[in-house]
Amino acid sequence: MSALRGKTIVVGVTGGIAAYKAVDVCRRLVDAGAHVVAVMTEGAEHFIGRTTLSALCSEPVQSSLWDEASPIPHTRLGQRADLIVVVPATARLIGAYAGGLSTDLLTNTLLATRAPVIVCPAMHTEMWEHPAVQDNLALLARRGVIVVEPDEGRLAGGDLGKGRLASPERIVAVVERTLGRGDLGGLHVVVTAGGTREPIDAVRVIANRSSGKQGYAVAAEAVSRGATVTLISTVELATPPGVQLVSVETAAQMEAAVQSAAETADIVVMAAAVADFRPTLTVGHKLKKDDGAPSIVLEPTPDILAGLGARKRPGQTLVGFAAETSDLVANAEAKLRRKNLDLIVANDVSASGVGFQHDTNAVCLLRPDASMVTISLTDKRSVARAVVDIVVEIRAGLS
Ligand code: PMT
Repeated sequence: MSALRGKTIVVGVTGGIAAYKAVDVCRRLVDAGAHVVAVMTEGAEHFIGRTTLSALCSEPVQSSLWDEASPIPHTRLGQRADLIVVVPATARLIGAYAGGLSTDLLTNTLLATRAPVIVCPAMHTEMWEHPAVQDNLALLARRGVIVVEPDEGRLAGGDLGKGRLASPERIVAVVERTLGRGDLGGLHVVVTAGGTREPIDAVRVIANRSSGKQGYAVAAEAVSRGATVTLISTVELATPPGVQLVSVETAAQMEAAVQSAAETADIVVMAAAVADFRPTLTVGHKLKKDDGAPSIVLEPTPDILAGLGARKRPGQTLVGFAAETSDLVANAEAKLRRKNLDLIVANDVSASGVGFQHDTNAVCLLRPDASMVTISLTDKRSVARAVVDIVVEIRAGLS
């Protein structure tokens, strides 16, 4: 049975030349058994007629906050929806949504929903590449919005380049995957993110530069593909919708949380930067400068991932990250074997734009059979997607 049967899908249509392709998307969704409601912006009405969409969809097109009998149309639609897909999404819509601006029925609906949201941008290449558009999309992706990247090809006016709306087939496949619980459906994924902080005294800690962005991107990707996700984190970023957050601070707290969550985990992804050493003693008060520089004696922390590797259950998939500044592949391979992992994601954190704190990363994905996939510098969500793709491939080999 189609994953879409009986689902209420709101299709937002904005004012771009690709708006005519929304007609095809609506038709395919209705054919698959979904209850489809189209919401048009004022701009969209310059490109396609309301009558066409109303005739194809399951109920008349909506476009205004004001002309409905219902007193609260702006929240009602968002609450009813099992999923919202915006086809095409213009730079204006993306900017308004990222900025939390409710300027019309569509933006109100997007802000009033807890359902998964898919945006399908389409615009000229110059606009697509503009940092403002890319930053807004990266922000939306971090919040768990699924972005269906445009294709390269012929654009309005005959130009060639990236910005052409993804094909209706691809858009509907993403809708199906999102509603059909995706390729991680039924699986429990545990992800760690951020750097641990090991207290020296009441106010000082030994920390590292991890922002948690890469781990949060993995969590957002896993939940968008149908997994039940537990995110064990030391940082306070926006939790992707649907993800269960466990906040920790030290390596010991992270170890306890990971061990507990891993009991039911099918997949564990350790993207966190766990301290390798911690002070043997933590002073309960603030050390006084006047007492002179303290001698801090360090002891090793438990290696959480190596512990999981030693007790790995049949069918469990363990993914580690390796932050290196030299001999990337050799060092990562040694960790892969020592910790009994199925995959290690190696990043050379001395390279520009790679690893700690950046919105981007570049990685090598290494498996015990010596196979290697290289992902050159891209946003962290794309790295997360590549990691999950390989995990799915590994698990397909288990069955
Ligand atoms: O958080 P961001 O700012 O987005 O940056 C991302 C990142 C650079 C933190 C991430 O891409 C990354 O590389 N994470 C792993 C960092 C690290 O601690 O690497 P490592 O080579 O020291 O550790 C190898 C693996 O063992 C890691 O999966 C780590 O989580 C795990 N480990 C390490 C030490 C320890 N005591 N216990 C562990 O489980």
